[in-house]
Amino acid sequence: MITLLTKLPVEAAEFIKRGGIVAFPTETVYGLGANVFDEKAVAKIFEAKRRPADNPLIAHVGSLEQIAALTSRITPSAQKFIEAFFPAPLTLVLPKSEKVPLIATANLETIGVRMPKNELAREFLRCCETPIVAPSANLSGKPSPTDWQAVFEDLNGRIDCILQGEATEIGLESTVVDCTADVPLILRTGAISLEDLQRVVPETEVYQVKKDEIVRSPGLKHRHYSPKARVILINRKSQIANRKSQAFIGLHKPPEKFDLVKICASAAEYAHEVFAFFRTCDRAGITTIYCETVAESGIGRALMDRLRRASESQE
Ligand code: TXA
Ligand code: MG
Repeated sequence: MITLLTKLPVEAAEFIKRGGIVAFPTETVYGLGANVFDEKAVAKIFEAKRRPADNPLIAHVGSLEQIAALTSRITPSAQKFIEAFFPAPLTLVLPKSEKVPLIATANLETIGVRMPKNELAREFLRCCETPIVAPSANLSGKPSPTDWQAVFEDLNGRIDCILQGEATEIGLESTVVDCTADVPLILRTGAISLEDLQRVVPETEVYQVKKDEIVRSPGLKHRHYSPKARVILINRKSQIANRKSQAFIGLHKPPEKFDLVKICASAAEYAHEVFAFFRTCDRAGITTIYCETVAESGIGRALMDRLRRASESQE
């Protein structure tokens, strides 16, 4: 398959209309999209990404009107979140409509719904004239792509088209909130923080997987966000053995010498840079990446979640 690169949303949407799969930018990470109602096209996403079939996809809409076709019921908490935040880096899990094929939701009776804030994303979605299911546009298990070059690195020749936009603004995936029960549960942290959500629905909680319980969000159990290099979390007091091919990313300049160093001015900038830094390290043959921990509030909570997953998935 030849992958077409284009800057034109209309041209990219043509592939969707013909049953193809297209990578496109959003404000969080690049997504790999297909028409949610086209089972064959949705199957191609799983194949191209080598994604496990039990990991459900998020449906993206270009307008609020498109939500109705996806869900059988917009629950009261979801209604409040839609009014307060959409378009946003926020995914709401709702009961799915009968029209949505089970391949898109990995056999769940629920569907994640998100209206991205990124202008080019919404223009593309409007050109598609249908909601688009899209996981992050990386090979399964690799860091999510924050620019089109990262998509190209993983998926060139495996997908029909890449809509070339800017590098993504946020750099971490959307906040996922299960809105099917009375208490909204955050299944994945992101740029819309616990504090932001609690301002709208005070009962909102972060979901904690209890021992022996079946995980609510299948994606939570899969390997994630891992570069080839080993990831080690450190704080400012940590001692680091001085060996070759090591990298550092964090908020404060470390005293040790590293082959690659990225100092970020804020947790938001750190979140924005981290996945691209992981990919740069892999390309440079770095064997160990030291990541400085940050305070767990606002975007810091989502950043720490991703850093922990990157370090734990290798143990
Ligand atoms: O920011 C984002 O959300 C990006 C962009 C492209 O929108 N998409 C993304 O998709 O990160 P993906 O497939 O890489 O991650 C989706 C996460 C997974 O952890 C999945 O298990 C969870 O959302 N999820 C999707 N549908 C769900 C559902 N019905 N119930 C529970 N969890 C769900
Ligand atoms: Mg992903």
